[in-house]
Amino acid sequence: MKIFSLLFLGLVTSMPVLATQSYLDAFTAAYPSVRGTQLESCAACHSPVKADFLNGYGLDLRDKGKKLNFSAIEALDSDEDGKSNIVEIKAESFPGSQVKTAEYLIFTNGKGDVHFNHEMHVTGPAYNILGDCSKCHAADMFPKYFNDNTPIRDKAHTICWRCHTESRSANAPLQCDGCHL
Ligand code: HEC
Ligand code: HEC
Ligand code: HEC
Ligand code: HEC
Repeated sequence: MKIFSLLFLGLVTSMPVLATQSYLDAFTAAYPSVRGTQLESCAACHSPVKADFLNGYGLDLRDKGKKLNFSAIEALDSDEDGKSNIVEIKAESFPGSQVKTAEYLIFTNGKGDVHFNHEMHVTGPAYNILGDCSKCHAADMFPKYFNDNTPIRDKAHTICWRCHTESRSANAPLQCDGCHL
C-alpha cells in the first residue's frame, strides 16, 4: 500500500465541538492569536504522523515540553524547515509539519484508488465523528503507527462500510465505485 498525503487548498472545514479538546485548548490559551486560524486544529500536533500518532511538534511537546510547557519548545524547529516553532506559530504556519490545510489520503491498490478525506471525516459535522479518533483508531481498528508496510485493506471494508451503512447518509458510498475510482 502506498499513501500520498495531499494538501487540499480551499477546502473549508468548520470546527465543531470536539471530544478531545484539552491539548488544543491549552495551545490556544498559550497562543491566543492562533484562534480562528488553520493552527486551531488537531493537525497542529498530530499530522502528518512521525511516530506515536504525533508529528514533530507533538513529539517535542510530549518529550521536551513536559507535556504542556509550550515556551520550553519555542526555540526548537520541530519540522526542521529552518524556522523555529515560535516564528512559525506567529506566522500562522504549522510548527510540526509542512501541512497547509485539510488532509487527504489516497490509497493506491489493484481495485482502483480510494480517496479518503481524513480531515473532513474527523471534523465535518455531517460525518458525525466530531474529533472522536477512537471511531477508527482503536485496538483492532486502523493502527496508530503508520507506514507503507501496514496494510489496511483487511480492516478497511468492515470499518468503512459499517459506519457508512449505519450513517444512512446518501453521501456515504456503499457501492464499489463510490470508493474505488
Ligand atoms: C498542542 C498539541 C496538540 C493538539 C493541538 C492536539 N493534541 Fe492530541 N495529543 C497531543 C500530545 C502531545 C499527545 C500525547 C500525550 C501523551 O502521550 O502523553 C496527544 C494525544 C492524543 C490522543 C491519545 C492518543 C493515543 O495514543 O491514545 C488523542 C486521541 C488525541 N490526542 C486527540 C486529539 C484531538 C481530537 C485533537 C483536536 C481536538 C488533538 N488531539 C489536538 C498534542 C496535541
Ligand atoms: C473515519 C476514520 C478515521 C477517523 C475518525 C480518524 N482517522 Fe486517522 N486515519 C484513518 C485511516 C484509514 C488512516 C490511514 C491508516 C494507515 O495508513 O494505516 C489514518 C491515518 C492517520 C494518521 C497518519 C496520516 C499521515 O499523514 O500519514 C494520523 C496522524 C491520524 N490518522 C490521526 C488521527 C487523529 C488524531 C484522529 C482524531 C482527531 C483521527 N486520525 C481520526 C482513519 C481515521
Ligand atoms: C465513523 C463513520 C465513518 C467511517 C468509519 C468512515 N466513514 Fe466515510 N463517510 C461517513 C459519512 C457519514 C459520510 C457522508 C458525509 C455526508 O453526509 O456528507 C462519509 C463519506 C465518505 C465518502 C464520500 C464523501 C467524501 O468525504 O469524499 C468517501 C469517499 C468515504 N466516506 C470513504 C471512506 C473510507 C475509505 C473509509 C474507511 C477508511 C471511511 N469512509 C470510513 C462516515 C464514515
Ligand atoms: C467505503 C469505501 C469502500 C467501498 C464501498 C469498497 N471498498 Fe474496496 N477497499 C476500500 C479500502 C479503503 C481498501 C484498502 C485500500 C488499500 O489498502 O490500498 C479497499 C481494498 C479493496 C481491495 C484490495 C485491493 C488490493 O490491491 O489488494 C479489493 C479487491 C476491493 N477493495 C474490492 C472492493 C469491491 C469489489 C467493492 C464493492 C463490492 C469494494 N471494494 C467497495 C474501500 C472501499
